[in-house]
Amino acid sequence: MSIPTSRSHPDLGPRRTGLVASVPMCGIFGYVGSRQDAPWLVLDGLKKLEYRGYDSWGIAVKQCDQVQLEKRIGKIGDAQTTLPPSGIGLGHTRWATHGGVTDENAHPHLDCAGRLAIIHNGIVSNFAELRRTLSDRGHTFRSETDTETIAHLVEEELARTEDGPDRLVCALIDAFRQLEGLNAVAVLDVTSGHLAAAKSGSPLTLGWTDDGALLASDYSALLEHTRKMTFLDENQAALLTPNGMRVYDVQTGQTIVPVITEVAWQAEAANLGGFPDFLSKEIHEQPTVVRQIARDKAPDADSLARAIVQARETHLVGCGTAAHAALVGQYLLARVAGLRVSFANGSEFGYLERFLGPGALAVAHSQSGETIDILESMRAAKARGTTLAALVNVEGSSLYRLADQTVLLGAGPERSVLATKSFTAMLAMLLLTAHALVDRIGEATALLERAATEIEALLADWRRDLIRQIAERIYCQEHLFVIGRGPSYPLALEAALKVKEVSYVHAEGFAGGELKHGVIALIEPGTPCLVLAPNDETHADIMSGAMEIKARGGMIIGVSPEPDPAFDHHIPVADVGEATVIAQAVPAQLLGYYLALLRGHDPDKPRNLAKSVTVK
Ligand code: F6R
Repeated sequence: MSIPTSRSHPDLGPRRTGLVASVPMCGIFGYVGSRQDAPWLVLDGLKKLEYRGYDSWGIAVKQCDQVQLEKRIGKIGDAQTTLPPSGIGLGHTRWATHGGVTDENAHPHLDCAGRLAIIHNGIVSNFAELRRTLSDRGHTFRSETDTETIAHLVEEELARTEDGPDRLVCALIDAFRQLEGLNAVAVLDVTSGHLAAAKSGSPLTLGWTDDGALLASDYSALLEHTRKMTFLDENQAALLTPNGMRVYDVQTGQTIVPVITEVAWQAEAANLGGFPDFLSKEIHEQPTVVRQIARDKAPDADSLARAIVQARETHLVGCGTAAHAALVGQYLLARVAGLRVSFANGSEFGYLERFLGPGALAVAHSQSGETIDILESMRAAKARGTTLAALVNVEGSSLYRLADQTVLLGAGPERSVLATKSFTAMLAMLLLTAHALVDRIGEATALLERAATEIEALLADWRRDLIRQIAERIYCQEHLFVIGRGPSYPLALEAALKVKEVSYVHAEGFAGGELKHGVIALIEPGTPCLVLAPNDETHADIMSGAMEIKARGGMIIGVSPEPDPAFDHHIPVADVGEATVIAQAVPAQLLGYYLALLRGHDPDKPRNLAKSVTVK
């Protein structure tokens, strides 16, 4: 393959360039209140949501009873808004689904009269039918989007709704009930000077401040203004006015008392803090995260252990990286506590949950708490009487609210699309829980401290350099294989995922013993293979696998406490007992990171990926 050149990165020196890919997740930010800088406030809010990826953006404000719009394709970057001062504004970053990447298709979209500006996350699955009906009734469409149908629907409902202080939200609720699919919608009305929003599926959070009401799709964008938040639940709507906010049930149309939560995260935690990108920042935060869990989470581990003991059967469930954490958990619970629990991917659990019922415990693992595959299967399991526990990083997320028992990981905002610190946080929690099951939690705390120290050592300059040099040797390769046994088997899956999703090098993880059952056919002279060889009962067998690869010319990159003649390259990771699996996760994170930089990819925004996958 040919690698483009000339991009410079602080971690690589002058080097290569390439594609910066987009991520399918739209952002919403809105404000109404006494401040007159709504255009800048909204623009700034959208910048905070940039990490999710988008291909166009837009802002609407009110001026002299008219909507003023600014819509552009491409990145916000250092863009300044040319909109006039206003006390109300609504903005959106769009990742195109219906209709190409054009100014016209960027949100907000207007109704026929230009009174309403609408933005939307999600997909209106019955939009073709709605658009046909609305066109037949005389509405003019200016874009190809499904979103614009909502603008015309709200326009019709507004005309039917009696005047009153909550007219806008009532009209939105009536329109929202006609939509199929999972959607979050917000509308700005220049006549009332109000904002309204409604959601099913996609997250929406309200922010309470002294000088106005805020709305965002991701609450980290609100942190600069407030830590007092209301997380809208499924099928809830909200009215935002300069005098306050009200929350409604979409099904009944009745108001409900909003739950206001003071979230723990601080605004600074969501910034780069001197790192060149969020991926390297979050990799470097892992020692702190692991130590915090050792220090603070023993009571959570105890109560999760109690729930496991009381359950007739326990299922650990997650998607992607969180699934790999759950699978490591299965090994840790067996090894440390002699307890056999099941594992399932979130998207597969639904096919099993119908066999569950009262007495069963499902432990959902999710960084975002918004992954639809997890949420759907957990809702179904809960409806059958299964008890639901969750290891989740985002306070107030849908999973956080759904679970009967929640362990908040406390890893802080994870803004790189790649899950890193949330993964090691899950492993640390599972290690504590495994030890809590056998009353040895003090031992686990000490192990976590040693794991944190070992991760610090791995992040020292010379070891990062070592991994960067290995990346330089292999970045033109098409394939990378990773093998591990026992708890290192799910870690091999995770290592391969880290490498492939950020560098686009094809990487596959295998249980060490499986290689000879077929995959070994792919090993050619020079094929790089990462061999996870900790000092445990898997060591001798995994080294036999390494020898088989070497005999066929494979290049062995050993991750183990000691060097071995079989290794072409050695990444030392000290033996920290059962916590070795936590430290062992870091080399592949760094390898993926350097491979991405060398191949000219943006480490924070891999192509085609969303930070939280809210579609099936
Ligand atoms: C990989 C990655 C994904 C997520 C998966 C689940 O780096 O980030 O595989 O782990 O989409 O997301 P959460 O944990 O938010 O449910």
